[in-house]
Amino acid sequence: MKTLLKSGKIITASDQFIGDVLIEGEKISAVGSDLHPDADTVIVNASGKFITPGGVDAHAHFDLPMAGTVSSDDHYTGLKAAAFGGTTTVFDFVSQDGPSLKKCVDAWHAKADEKAAVDFGCHMNITAFNDQVAGEIPDLREMGINSVKVFTAYNGRLRLQDGEIFQVLRIAKENRLLVMVHAENGDVIDILTDEAVKAGHHAPEWHALTRPAEGSIENVFRTISLAQQAQAPVYIVHMNTAGEVQILKKAREKGFPVMGETCPQYLYFTVDDLRKADGAKWICSPPMRTRADNEGIQKFLGEGVLQVIATDHCPFFFDGTHPILYEGKEVLIPGKELGKDDFTKIPNGLPGVGDRMLVLWNYGVRKQMITPQQFVAMTSTNPAKIFGLYPQKGTLMPGADADVLVWNKNAPIRYGVRYAQHRTDYNLYEGWEMQDTIQKVYLRGKLIVDDGNWLGSRGQGKFLACSDPTVI
Ligand code: URP
Ligand code: ZN
Ligand code: ZN
Repeated sequence: MKTLLKSGKIITASDQFIGDVLIEGEKISAVGSDLHPDADTVIVNASGKFITPGGVDAHAHFDLPMAGTVSSDDHYTGLKAAAFGGTTTVFDFVSQDGPSLKKCVDAWHAKADEKAAVDFGCHMNITAFNDQVAGEIPDLREMGINSVKVFTAYNGRLRLQDGEIFQVLRIAKENRLLVMVHAENGDVIDILTDEAVKAGHHAPEWHALTRPAEGSIENVFRTISLAQQAQAPVYIVHMNTAGEVQILKKAREKGFPVMGETCPQYLYFTVDDLRKADGAKWICSPPMRTRADNEGIQKFLGEGVLQVIATDHCPFFFDGTHPILYEGKEVLIPGKELGKDDFTKIPNGLPGVGDRMLVLWNYGVRKQMITPQQFVAMTSTNPAKIFGLYPQKGTLMPGADADVLVWNKNAPIRYGVRYAQHRTDYNLYEGWEMQDTIQKVYLRGKLIVDDGNWLGSRGQGKFLACSDPTVI
């Protein structure tokens, strides 16, 4: 089966030109101008449209147990939502909830493989460290995993101590794995949370007020210092304050192998959103900060300081006492209402995997925050490179997987929960106008979304074994 996308504006991480993309089977076979189709080639007129690689989201959580419930998208619903939003590869995190990493990875495959609606890779959380775990980290490579995440917060649950993080960094370096760090100050958060609860503060804004920006900034600095002492590269997830990115910038200027990721929510929302009547919708960790942080991170994106824009997709219902209709069936999953009288009980996380590409194109590229090339680089090419999937993913070049998007230009829609396909009851971008939208989504050559219609299927997504990570 051959498909020729004809006369579109092709956008890659380095280029932008009018041309054609030829898809043969699961791969792109040619990119050029005036490609001549065989008699049996399906021709798609992309004139007046643009063509980009499918998105690669380096950070999402599906089917994640938390705070007495579970995140409301599983590997079918979440990856299907990703597809509708133009993302064709997503990385999820394997929880370390047993002594054997292999068993944890196997358990994750048992959940994900038969459901996955687009291709996916895995990072491994290291949330308890001992000699056995140290011995097993190298084996992750044989399981197709080249990245581990550690936490400097969530004391008594997920956090590792500095010495443990240092050891993980060294083992990772020796075995060509990349360490990803969640940087907040767990000790300070615990003290402030205790004080807030004792003082009778229960509203959602206290989630943000008990997780100060300075704790994130200080832990980014310490993380980079630890990585330097271990002589290992490091990748900092969900960077949320301008101060953190400033430190990243300085470290990169010195030539340190450090990379940073932010997420759309840290570009457009603030602690004031948590002060609204429905403020729990914005609760995630790390929290929303200030307008100055939004603007600072936006500026750093334009300057090329950050490498990746991911989502940290981890949705919960706002009101999990009222069912929603999903594929014609009622679904009800306890959500943010669990913490209606106590901010510490609100499950942390937001929907976003399907929003990222549309939001960043329309409110990033179209607002001249980033260029079209930077958009492709940070939403697709860079994460594919960093996590060892390039050039199979993240680019439009002969030999790459035919994960391709065709975008409608100037076909505005009003975005929101009814348009996004997440399995939850709200959307953070409710009412936002999207001028340009995604018309067609190809996953390995198969048209899976066409004009808002789902042509894909459960289980069509493949697990991607990652090769060596790359520092960019
Ligand atoms: O609130 C969030 N982000 N939940 C997911 C867990 C994490 O730390 O990424
Ligand atoms: Zn995190
Ligand atoms: Zn996360």
